[in-house]
Parts: sequence; structure tokens; C-alpha cells
Amino acid sequence: MKGIILAGGSATRLYPLTRVINKHLLPIGSVPMVYYPIARLLEAGIQDILIISGPSDMGQFAELLGDGDLVGAKLTYKVQTRPGGTAQALGLAREFVGKEPCVMALGDNFFAEPVRDALAPFLSSQRGAHMVLKRVDDARRYGVAEVSNDGRTITSLEEKPANPKSNLAVTGLYAYDATVFDIIDRTKAARSGEIEITSVNAEYMSRGELRFAEYSGEWIDAGTIDSYHKANRMALERPLPAVLEPLFTPPPRK
Ligand code: G1P
Repeated sequence: MKGIILAGGSATRLYPLTRVINKHLLPIGSVPMVYYPIARLLEAGIQDILIISGPSDMGQFAELLGDGDLVGAKLTYKVQTRPGGTAQALGLAREFVGKEPCVMALGDNFFAEPVRDALAPFLSSQRGAHMVLKRVDDARRYGVAEVSNDGRTITSLEEKPANPKSNLAVTGLYAYDATVFDIIDRTKAARSGEIEITSVNAEYMSRGELRFAEYSGEWIDAGTIDSYHKANRMALERPLPAVLEPLFTPPPRK
């Protein structure tokens, strides 16, 4: 199983914080934001992880994270030369993923607790696609899933609807079998010109191959200043994921 972390984008909603610093390098609690998705993937048993970001920030990610050895990850890097949406970015992982299943995390999604349980059905079946949902107060900011009355299947998916059909937000944690890359190739860009991940998920839904789990912990998309600060408060109130503890060991004296 491979992991992919998307760490690109211009993050204009966090300007001026992100004018010269990539959003995923800003602190959440005591570590740079990108360490959280790395930790959550490691806890779920996924060590082989691809970091995708833009050309101007890639060097800083490599400098910060190196080969990932310190935290027990095996990191690879891929440059996204132009912004083209989440699904286009995932498409860049094709060679890295090969024929394996993969889990993709949007790097600004803060999961306050481990995500292993929310991924468990996919980790065992490794088929189709799997989404992690979370009930929120205002779903208009997110992808929104409608679930059948028996709670077993997703019946509709909408990206940032003005009138959400449910309060179930689609979090930025997804799992796919290797057919996802062919689906991305066939998916048309949305009005924004970007290939949205929601369109890819909708294709799995129409095939009856989209499954989901609700996340029981706290979840925050840290992409706005309010939510960014909320994520910081939450991170500081909790113990750091144990897999990140080696980061606090000072480097050996030269
Ligand atoms: C993206 C997805 C959206 C999802 C959200 C979660 O939106 O398109 O479906 O709910 O991430 O963080 P973005 O935050 O990139 O606007």
C-alpha cells in the first residue's frame, strides 16, 4: 500500500502567512503541518509515501523531511509543475503507485486522532474507493456526501454545494485501487478548469464501488485562518503522535 500527500497549492486564504511559506510547512502545534498526515499514514501501516508539491517549495520539503528515515517513513518527492486540481495531482503518482492500492491525504487536513480505523475496511479489501466522512455544522465549504437510509451506500456527492443534502463532509483522506489512474484520465475538468477529486469519486459511486467510514475523532481542514488556529489549539491540547517523537531528539554534535 502506498501513501500520497498533496502539499502544493497557493493557499491564498492564508495570505500573508503563505506568501513565501508553503502552507504545509507552517506549524500545527509543535511540528510543521506536513508531519501530521505523515504520522497518520505511518500509524495506519503505510510507510512508502510520495510528497507532491510545486517546484518552488519542493527543496524545502526535501530539506525538512529528507528520506523520512527519522520517523520510519520512506519518502519520495514529485513536482507538480502547474496547479491542476487534486485529481490531476493524484495522477502524478501513477508510476509511484504502480499496481498497488493507495491512500491519499490532503496535507492541510488535520486529523486529531489516528485514522487507521476509518481506513480499516479499505486496508483489508483494497478494492474500489473509500472515503472518510465527518459530520460538520456547515457543509457548504466541503465535498458533501449523501448516504442511503440504511447508512450503507453513498447516493450523491457534491462539491461545495450551496444547499448541502447532508451534514456529512468529505474529508481529504481517500483510498483507491489502482484503477483510479485510468478514471482520472477519463475524467473531464470541472468549470474551474481543474479535475476535481469529487468527479473521480462520483465515477466510483456510479460503479457501486465507493465505500466510506465516518471518522470518530476531531477533523479540521486547516486552510482558513480560523480553522488553522483551531487546529493549532487542538494539536497543543493533545499528545503528539508517538511516531513523531524522534523529531525532538537533537542532532548529534558535529
Ligand atoms: C478539497 C475537496 C473537498 C473536501 C476538502 C477537505 O477541497 O475538494 O471535497 O471536502 O478538500 O479538506 P479544498 O479544501 O481543496 O477546497
